[in-house]
Amino acid sequence: MASFSGFWIICLHLLSFCLRHVVSRQIVYSLSEEVSPGTFVGQLAKDLNLKLDELESRALRIVSTSSKKHFDVNMKTGALFVQDAIDREKLCPNSIVCTESLEAIVNNPLNVYSIEVKILDVNDNTPTFPGRSQNIRISEHTVPGTKFPLLSAEDPDVGSNSVASYKLSSNQFFSLDVNTETDSGPSPELVLQKALDREKQAEIHLILTAVDGGKPARSGTASIVVSVLDANDNSPTFSKPVYKAQVPENVAVGTVVLKLNATDPDEGVNGEVIYTFKQGQRGVSDKFIINSSSGEIAIAGPLDYEDVSAYELRVEARDKGHSPLASHCKVLVEVLDVNDNAPDIKLTSLLDNVSEGAKKGTVIAFITVQDRDEGKNGKVHCAISKNSPFVLESTQGKYYSLVLGTELDREENELYNVSITAADEGTPALSSTTVVTVRVSDVNDNPPRFPEPAINVYVKENSQAGGLIAVVSAKDIDVGGNAHVTYSLFDSSNTPLSSVVSINSVTGEIYSMQSFNYEEIKHFHFQVQATDSGTPPLSSNVTVNVFILDQNDNSPVILPPYSEAGSVNTENIPYSAEAGYFVAKIRAVDADSGYNALLSYHITEPKGTNLFRIGSSSGEIRTKRRMSDNDLKTHPLVLTVCDHGDPSLSATVSVDVVVVESLDSMQPSLRQVPMKEEGFSDLNLYLLIAIVSVSVIFLLSLIALIAAKCYSSDGAFSSCSAPVVTTHPDGSWSYSKSTQQYDVCFSSDTLKSDVVVFPSPFPPVDAELISINGGDTFTRTQTLPSSEKTK
Ligand SMILES: *[C@@H]1O[C@H](CO)[C@@H](O)[C@H](O)[C@H]1NC(C)=O
Ligand SMILES: *[C@@H]1O[C@H](CO)[C@@H](O)[C@H](O)[C@H]1NC(C)=O
Ligand SMILES: *[C@@H]1O[C@H](CO)[C@@H](O)[C@H](O)[C@H]1NC(C)=O
Ligand SMILES: *[C@@H]1O[C@H](CO)[C@@H](O)[C@H](O)[C@H]1NC(C)=O
Ligand SMILES: *[C@@H]1O[C@H](CO)[C@@H](O)[C@H](O)[C@H]1NC(C)=O
Repeated sequence: MASFSGFWIICLHLLSFCLRHVVSRQIVYSLSEEVSPGTFVGQLAKDLNLKLDELESRALRIVSTSSKKHFDVNMKTGALFVQDAIDREKLCPNSIVCTESLEAIVNNPLNVYSIEVKILDVNDNTPTFPGRSQNIRISEHTVPGTKFPLLSAEDPDVGSNSVASYKLSSNQFFSLDVNTETDSGPSPELVLQKALDREKQAEIHLILTAVDGGKPARSGTASIVVSVLDANDNSPTFSKPVYKAQVPENVAVGTVVLKLNATDPDEGVNGEVIYTFKQGQRGVSDKFIINSSSGEIAIAGPLDYEDVSAYELRVEARDKGHSPLASHCKVLVEVLDVNDNAPDIKLTSLLDNVSEGAKKGTVIAFITVQDRDEGKNGKVHCAISKNSPFVLESTQGKYYSLVLGTELDREENELYNVSITAADEGTPALSSTTVVTVRVSDVNDNPPRFPEPAINVYVKENSQAGGLIAVVSAKDIDVGGNAHVTYSLFDSSNTPLSSVVSINSVTGEIYSMQSFNYEEIKHFHFQVQATDSGTPPLSSNVTVNVFILDQNDNSPVILPPYSEAGSVNTENIPYSAEAGYFVAKIRAVDADSGYNALLSYHITEPKGTNLFRIGSSSGEIRTKRRMSDNDLKTHPLVLTVCDHGDPSLSATVSVDVVVVESLDSMQPSLRQVPMKEEGFSDLNLYLLIAIVSVSVIFLLSLIALIAAKCYSSDGAFSSCSAPVVTTHPDGSWSYSKSTQQYDVCFSSDTLKSDVVVFPSPFPPVDAELISINGGDTFTRTQTLPSSEKTK
C-alpha cells in the first residue's frame, strides 16, 4: 500500500509540473491577515493580461486549494478581493510563512494561472498561559537560588508578534529568569531569592505576565501560587517557662492541678505536642500524672505536706515530627498544709508510783507534745483533766512536766487516771489525749483502829482456865505491811496480867489464864495494843473491860445470933402476945449477888402452922393470932432461907418458940437487940433515897414509853428495850432496862418495908470502873429490920 500511495504522489507532481508549463507565469500577492471581506488584493485581470470583457466569456474563476474560499474575483473589474476573513493562525498554524495558493482558471483556451497570496501576520493574539494559575510547592527548607520552571505562555502569532518577554509581580522571595535558549521561545523560571518560612507565610501569590513583541504589544497573565511546605523546624513552646500551682495536701487523687500549654507552629504531626515528665525525677511519678495529649497534670497519689512540701516537676513537650523537637518547662507545685495531724503526746514517766507522802512539786512525768502541721495547725495547747491533784507545768515550748499540785492520800484515792489533752489551733482543731496512770504508794500514816475505844467482856465465874473470852480486832486502812496488825497485852497495872489473860497476837483472841471467882473479883480491865508492821510502826489501844458474871455458888448464911441447923435457937414470947407479935428476925446473907443473893424466908416446919408467919423477904417471924390454952408451950420452927439462883441454894435454922407467962423470965442474953433510933433514922434516909430513885426511874420509864423511839446499837446490847417494870405476885417490883437492872422489893408483910436496891450485874458501860485490885464498889443496900421487939 505504501508503495502504491507513493506512486500517486509522484504522478501528481508530474501533473503539476506539466501544468506549470501550461501556466505562463506565477502571480504573487501579499495580504495582511484579518482584513475585512471585500478588501482589494490585486488587479488579477490585468496581471493575467485578460481583457475585462473576456472575463465573463472565458469564465475566470478562482480555485483554492484550501477548503475555505477566502478570495474571489470581481468579474467586472477583474480585481481579486477578500471574500472571507483570513486568520493566518488558523490557515497555517505553526508556520512562520503563510501563503494561500490559488489558481485562476480561464477557458477558451484553458489556461491555469497560479496565484500565491502571502498572508502577512498581524499581532492579533495575546500570549496565554495554559491554565489560569500555576501551583508550585516549595519546601520551606529550600536553599535560595533554586530555580523552579514555570509554564510558558503561548502566542499563536509569529515572529515578533509572538511572546517576547515575561514579567513577575514584585515580591521578596522570588525573581524571574527567562531562558531564551530554547526552540519554543523563552521559558520563564522562578528563582528563590530568600529562605521561606511556612510559619510566617505559607502561601505566596505571584502574577506572571507574558508580553509579545507586537506593536502594540499584547500581554497575558497567570497567577502563580507558591505553597510553602512545612518542615519540622519548630519545637513546641510553652506559654510560660515556669508554671506554679498550689494544692492542699488533702487534695483528692485525680484532681487536675494545672494545664500546660505548649504550642508548636508546625503543621500536622510536626505540630502535635506530647507532654511527658522528664525521666529520672524521684518521687514524682507516684504523685503526679500528666496527660500526654492535653498537658493536664493531675494528682496520682496522696500528698503529705509533712513529707514533701513542694515538688519541682520537669516536663518535656515533644512534637510528633519525623525528627521530633522538644522543649522543657518547670512546674512548681506547692503543697499547702492542712490540719491533718493531731498533736502527738510523748510521755516519759519518772515514777511508777508516787508515795502518798510526796511533797507538792514532785515531778511525776515529762511530756513532749508535737504537731507535724505548720503554723496554727501545729500550735498546740496542753491541758490536764480537772479535779486531779496534778498540775501541768509548761517548761518551754512543747515540753511540759506533770507535777504534784497537792498532797496525796492513798487511803482516799490510790489511783489517778490523769488525762492529758493536747489540741492544736487549726480549724477544725485536732486533739489527742493520753492517760497517765499514777499509783499512789502507801506510807504508814494510819494506825490500826479498833471499832470502839473499849469493849466489855462478860465471863462467868468458875469457868475453865484457858477459855476464849473475847476477840479483839483492829483495822488498818494502810496496805501491805503497813496494815499488818499484831496484838499484844498492854499491862498498865502492877499485877502481872499474863497470869490472868493471854492474847493470840495474830488473831486477837483473848484467853483466860485462870478461873475467876465473882466473890473475889467482879471486874477488871486491861488494854490491848494493836501494832502494825510499818516503819515506824503505829499502834492504838482498846480497853477490855472484863466483868465476871456471878454464879449461884454460895448458899445463904444465917447470921448470928442464930445459927444453922444443928444447934437449936430459942425465942420466948409472952402468952399474952397479940396477933402480929414480933417473935424474931432471921437474918441471912449470900455472898453471891443479884438474884443469887436475893433471899426469901420460909417456915418449913411445921407445915401449915396457923400460929406463926414469916416475912418472906424480911425474915421477921410474927404471931398470927393470940395464944390459946390449947396451944403447946413450945413451938419448934424450922426456917429455910433460899436464894433465887438457879438452882436455888438454901440454909435452914431451927428456932424453938417458947410461950412464957411473962417476959421477965426470958433470958435477955438470947434476945436480939433491936436497932437504935439513930440507926432507924439512917435507914429512913436510905429508904427515902430508894423511893426517890424509884420515882425517878418510874418517870424515866414513862418518858421512855411515851417516846417509844427505839434505835439499835451494836451486838449484844442491841435489843431495843424500854424499861420494864414488873409486879411480882408477892407484891415486889422489879425494874429492868437493857444494861441496867435494879431490883426493888417492897414487902407487903409489914408496915415498915424492907427495900432492897442493888444494881444488876450489868453496870452502865461508861460507869466508873473498878480496877482489878480495887475494892468492891457495888452498892449493896439492905435494910435491916426497922422494928424491934417491944419489951
Ligand atoms: C495555649 O496558648 C495559646 C497562646 O498562648 C492559646 O491561643 C491557646 O488557646 C492555648 N490553649 C489552651 C488549651 O489553653
Ligand atoms: C487526656 O486529655 C484528653 C483531652 O482532655 C482526654 O480526652 C483524654 O481522655 C485524657 N487522657 C487521659 C489518659 O486521661
Ligand atoms: C513504787 O515504786 C517503787 C520504785 O519506783 C517500787 O519499788 C515499788 O514496788 C512501787 N510500788 C508499787 C505499789 O508499785
Ligand atoms: C483508770 O483506768 C483504768 C484502765 O483504764 C481503769 O481500770 C480504772 O478503773 C480507772 N480508774 C479510775 C479511778 O478512773
Ligand atoms: C495506849 O495506852 C497507854 C497507857 O494508857 C498509853 O500510854 C499509850 O499512849 C496509848 N497508846 C495509844 C496509841 O493511845
